[in-house]
Amino acid sequence: MSADTISINSQMNHFDSHDSVWLFGYGSIIFKADFPFLQRRPAHIAGWARRFWQGSHDHRGTAEAPGRVVTLVPQEGAICAGMAYLITPEVFAHLDHREKNGYLRVVAEIHFSEEEKTDGLLYIASEENAAFAGPADEEEIAWQIARAAGPSGRNSEYLLLLAQALRELGSDDAHVFAIERHLLRLERETAGR
Ligand code: SIN
Repeated sequence: MSADTISINSQMNHFDSHDSVWLFGYGSIIFKADFPFLQRRPAHIAGWARRFWQGSHDHRGTAEAPGRVVTLVPQEGAICAGMAYLITPEVFAHLDHREKNGYLRVVAEIHFSEEEKTDGLLYIASEENAAFAGPADEEEIAWQIARAAGPSGRNSEYLLLLAQALRELGSDDAHVFAIERHLLRLERETAGR
């Protein structure tokens, strides 16, 4: 599958007849809401784990030195915390452009609490997309993030803002926090040289 997913996503018309749709964000969509929304609520999805396994050539890296950003991978029993936004369907044109480097819109069940849930959409970069970077040791991931930067800024900023947003949501994401610890140690070592 080509990395640019805009044309595939524009054919995704699942909620087109609806006045509004819930969008679940688990990465930069949590901390960078550069789109209009009607409501915003902390939420989670089940059966998916957040991983820094997607390459970023367009936002937090370059073709020569790609960064790493998060995607979701299926994992039984996993709970992924994030932020849900109620948006109007027109907003997807902007989001499809922003998430074009491999992310596809997927329908998911979004939970606001044990009792309250709704169907909505999220963006997932699956392992079939050309920019998929795949699993790596968390320390190696931190090394790659420490060196990368792109048009949206430093890759380390993405990681630190995400970790901060997850703390604010009360989410204990072992993968993200382990990479953050490695990154902060690397930065301290570099500063001490
Ligand atoms: C998301 O935030 O939901 C998708 C991944 C990203 O843009 O960082």
